[in-house]
Formats: sequence, C-alpha cells, structure tokens
Amino acid sequence: GRKSGATIPITAEKAQPDREQPSKLDECRRCELWQYATQAVPGEGPRGSKGGAPIMVVGEQPGDQEDLAGKPFVGPAGKLLDRVFAQAEVDRKSIYLTNAVKHFKWEPKGKRRIHKTPAQREVEACHYWLEKELDAVRPKVIVAMGSTALKSVLGRSTVTLKDTLGKSVRHEGRWVVTIYHPSYVLRVPDEAARQEAFSIMVKGLKLAHELLE
Ligand code: URA
Repeated sequence: GRKSGATIPITAEKAQPDREQPSKLDECRRCELWQYATQAVPGEGPRGSKGGAPIMVVGEQPGDQEDLAGKPFVGPAGKLLDRVFAQAEVDRKSIYLTNAVKHFKWEPKGKRRIHKTPAQREVEACHYWLEKELDAVRPKVIVAMGSTALKSVLGRSTVTLKDTLGKSVRHEGRWVVTIYHPSYVLRVPDEAARQEAFSIMVKGLKLAHELLE
C-alpha cells in the first residue's frame, strides 16, 4: 500500500499552473485561438523598470500580416495608423502598441484568411496579457481603438464606443481615450466620411498627448 503522508493531494488546477497562468505568450492556452494562428503577437514599444511608454495604444487582434510577421500593425491597418501618428505628430517608437487579443482569429475564404471578431470570452482570457503589459509599461494614457479594445481596457464597464469616442475617461488611475479602429476607417465607403473618421483618430491621439502635460 501507499505510505501515509507520501503524497499531498493536489487539484488538477494546481498541477497545471501554466494552463491558467502561462509565463510565455506563445505557450498560452487560455483560449482556443492559438491552434489556428502562426504565432502570438506581443505588444511593441518601451517597457521596463527604467520607465515605459507614457501612451499605450490598444487595437483588436493581429491581422493576416501581423500573424505572419509576429509584430503588431504591419499590414494595411498599420499603414493607416502610421498616417494618423504622422498627422498627430506622435512618434510610433515612443508609444507602446498592442492588441486586446494576441492571436489572429480567422476563417478561410478561398485562399485568403478573413478576420473574425474575437468573442467576449477570448477578450477576457487575453486580458491576462494586457494586465501584464500594463504592469510593465505603466502608461499614463491608454488609447483604445474600437470597441474590442475598449471592452478589454474597461473590463465590466458598459460604456460603449459611441459614449466615449474622442473623449477621455478616468479608469483605474489612468486616462482612457477612445478612437476608431483603423480597419474601420479603411472600410468607410464615402470619402468625406472617411476623412472625418480619420481626423477623429488624429484628434484623439493629440488629446492623449495633451493629457500627459
Ligand atoms: N488590426 C489590429 O487590431 N491589430 C493589428 O495588429 C493589426 C490589425
């Protein structure tokens, strides 16, 4: 028989801490999305004990090109975002750029991979990583691009994109500024409306900068 006291009963959860609290992003199994993605895409920008970026910009999830490159905002949405940064006179290297969800969620359409909006449970699972980034970067202002980013940043809040677009709200000791997502701006069919949406993004970034002063 078994020697008494030889084994300490442990729960399945305690036996697999990495499942719930992974230390490496690429080993994350907190939701199912890792199975279909090439790799996880971490945020990019200044972080660490010497002081991180004062502004953190949060998108939705990597797209097709980001999934392949392993870097955020390198595809069409990133190109538009670069134009927004230029017009707002914000240096992309000075900000921390990341996504609410770190794996690309997609469905096949012919030979292409079409973006699928992440589910609430996937956004919640991946919030674990956003929290780690917030701890490491300690930004003064968060810019949430689109409603997925806003939901992740504000957690249980019922505040919507419409309520906060272009405005700043206080949340857990920081400012949160909401702007459109660049992919949304790319899809606005009417030229004048697209220009307007673009300028709302620029104004939001300028506001984020003003909040640092
Ligand atoms: N859209 C996003 O939300 N993030 C990216 O990194 C690319 C496209």
